[in-house]
Amino acid sequence: MAVAERVLGQPVKRKEDPRFIQGAGRYLDDIVLPRMLYMAIVRSPYAHARVKAVPKEAALSVPGVVAVITGEDLEKAGLAWMPTLAGDKQMVLAVGKVLFQGQEVAAVVAETREAAFDGAHALAQVVEYEPLPVVVDPFKALEPDAPILREDREQKTNHIWHWEVGDRDRTERAFAEAEVVVRQEVSYPRVHPAPLEPCGCIADYNKATERLTFYVTSQAPHAHRTLLALVSGLPEHKIRVISPDVGGGFGNKVPVYSGYVCAVVGSLQLGRPVKWVETRTENLQSTHFARDFHMTCEIAADRDGRVKALRVKTIADHGAFDAAANPSKFPAGLFSIVTGSYDFPTAFVEVDAVYTNKAPGGVAYRCSFRVTEASYLIERTMDVLADELGMDPVELRLKNFIPPEKFPYPSPLGWTYDSGNYAETLKKAMDIIGYWDLRKEQEEKRKRGELMGIGVSTFTEIVGAGPAHTFDIAGIKMFDSCEIRVHPTGKVLVRTGVRHQGQGHETTFAQIVADELGIPVDDVLVEEGDTDTAPYGLGTYASRSTPTAGAATAMAARRVRDKARKIAAHVLEASEEDVVWENGRFHVAGAPGRSVTFQEVAFAAYTNPPEGLEPGLEAVYYYNPPNLTFPNGAYICVVDIDKGTGQVKVRRFVAVDDCGTVINPMVVEGQVHGGLTEGFGIAFMQEIVYDENGNNLSSDFSTYLLPTAMETPKWETDRTVTPSPHHPIGAKGVGESPNVGSPAAFVNAVVDALSHLGVRHIDMPITPWKIWKILREHGIE
Ligand code: CDP
Repeated sequence: MAVAERVLGQPVKRKEDPRFIQGAGRYLDDIVLPRMLYMAIVRSPYAHARVKAVPKEAALSVPGVVAVITGEDLEKAGLAWMPTLAGDKQMVLAVGKVLFQGQEVAAVVAETREAAFDGAHALAQVVEYEPLPVVVDPFKALEPDAPILREDREQKTNHIWHWEVGDRDRTERAFAEAEVVVRQEVSYPRVHPAPLEPCGCIADYNKATERLTFYVTSQAPHAHRTLLALVSGLPEHKIRVISPDVGGGFGNKVPVYSGYVCAVVGSLQLGRPVKWVETRTENLQSTHFARDFHMTCEIAADRDGRVKALRVKTIADHGAFDAAANPSKFPAGLFSIVTGSYDFPTAFVEVDAVYTNKAPGGVAYRCSFRVTEASYLIERTMDVLADELGMDPVELRLKNFIPPEKFPYPSPLGWTYDSGNYAETLKKAMDIIGYWDLRKEQEEKRKRGELMGIGVSTFTEIVGAGPAHTFDIAGIKMFDSCEIRVHPTGKVLVRTGVRHQGQGHETTFAQIVADELGIPVDDVLVEEGDTDTAPYGLGTYASRSTPTAGAATAMAARRVRDKARKIAAHVLEASEEDVVWENGRFHVAGAPGRSVTFQEVAFAAYTNPPEGLEPGLEAVYYYNPPNLTFPNGAYICVVDIDKGTGQVKVRRFVAVDDCGTVINPMVVEGQVHGGLTEGFGIAFMQEIVYDENGNNLSSDFSTYLLPTAMETPKWETDRTVTPSPHHPIGAKGVGESPNVGSPAAFVNAVVDALSHLGVRHIDMPITPWKIWKILREHGIE
């Protein structure tokens, strides 16, 4: 039966939830294959050391251990190094030396998980190391006497690359002529995505068929298949990558990890499936990190608050191996969204990436590469400027927003923003929270010596990697895909090239198809994560699924509808031009009674296709986006600070997001709640800390603190809608916006609470201890 009501924009309950709620999800570690072996990894206790000997026998003598793989073994097979996502290379297992604590030194394969761990433990006791000087501070790593970490590189320096964008001369002139200049140093600490399910894989090589089936916790199964083919030399058509249900990714499940390569090598050698699942500590010690950006931001402005120029210098700590090494528009280039929502006439940005003795860094965590750092920096520094000028932060922002009539807006750093109405969004957030009343309350409280702060963040995001002409990872262009198969009864199977990790694609993509074809959402099944069945795609990260695969889904559905129209004309005995698609039915123009449903057309496609038309009803669409999408939002946070303990209480948090056309408001709200909670954790709790010897002091959940329901404030959400003009249904991504936009709102609120004391900036995480010390320094007891 056809449905006339539109399902797009409806809060359809998530189709995937029944299986998750019932514990019936199928995650990597739920998969047990016959004759499966288990693998554990021996890791370096040192942050920098020569590896003198890896005596395999120690592990091989443990009952149940069947094989040990070392860096030397891999070197012989030409597999000792693997490429990182964007151009550097990384040791699979240590060859010669180790460069960070937790680096992979050997892999032990055994009959049981316990035996694998026992074997790894026994071997770890006897690996011989010669410790080398350690450098964990990126500024010290650049000093002339710093130890050179990457001796494998031609350039004998810890400096990896320099990247710059913008008009240096024009920016310099604007600064020379400026009435007001502010300058703020801002560090975004190293954080870790810490998905609840850590990373893992099962490599299952069948010697008879010469096929590798590779189950993996992957956000990007096709990219993993291609990289595996390139690294292992196995032909790509003989590799099948299956990403089962994935328990959160946030960027952590995009790279290829040593464990994956070792499991493949183990399975190739032994002809049996090999499973590797890392522990929480291994996940926090060795898989890729985000942020660790040390930025200096300057804004030149008129005395009346009109911004004139922006200048940014950044040191990026990328750890021992550079996961984000390609200084092109991608990925450091996304930092150039740093002019944010403001109409800067000119800007100039420089980034220098540096090696240190830390785990590989520089990848994304719930943001397009480096967008979070950019957004945090500009939103923080706009508050510093407001303070300098004695203006309210919202007035400064309203004065400088890119006005709606300037869209599509060419930013001074090279992007073309698609759409937005920033003032409307901010005013909505101000109305909801009662902004001016709060300012009055704050004034009263200050008189009484109480500490209350109001923080504003009006960010612009950049998501949807493509388009192909600007995005290129390891030679792969950034597009995405969808295949739609309509069965004879009108039920539909949809497969895309992305892979959700909890975002709800099984529901939202079904809504897109149901809306385009006029069928119930329940008649659409969305499948992702199997490279043998899904069309080629680049995966889910950087909030790209809706802008790319979501667009491909709408376009594939339209292709199906175009063919369906031909079949409908045949069934209705009318000419195609006379057939109208309306309210989920095809009818003859001027005769709404002469109509057929989509289901009737589907049946005819297989049983009674018109002469000269291929039978069947399916379509594939590879969508190459013409531009990225630019979601945005206005967040306002109210905090109260306890003077005695330094404890910050988030009293209210209003988030008004604009992600263009909304497919499912309930899913969007869930995304915003999750992202805000992560932003809250980053602002107040989370940091990966290293001591001067390179020991990771935050390698479990008692030291790397994630917010639980106990700490998390109540979120108040709303929306404005400025559809993206270039997306087929006007949608922009949303998954990362709250994580990008919220840290500045939290920090701005805390700094605002203390601004009358002369406090202009506090680096995250804002712990009670930090606040307590600041209060004592200012004589507040
Ligand atoms: O790439 P990822 O799925 O992480 O991010 P996204 O494209 O921002 O989508 C997150 C979830 O929100 C998906 O289920 C989307 O389809 C949904 N969404 C929506 O309903 N409306 C939008 N305008 C954007 C996303």
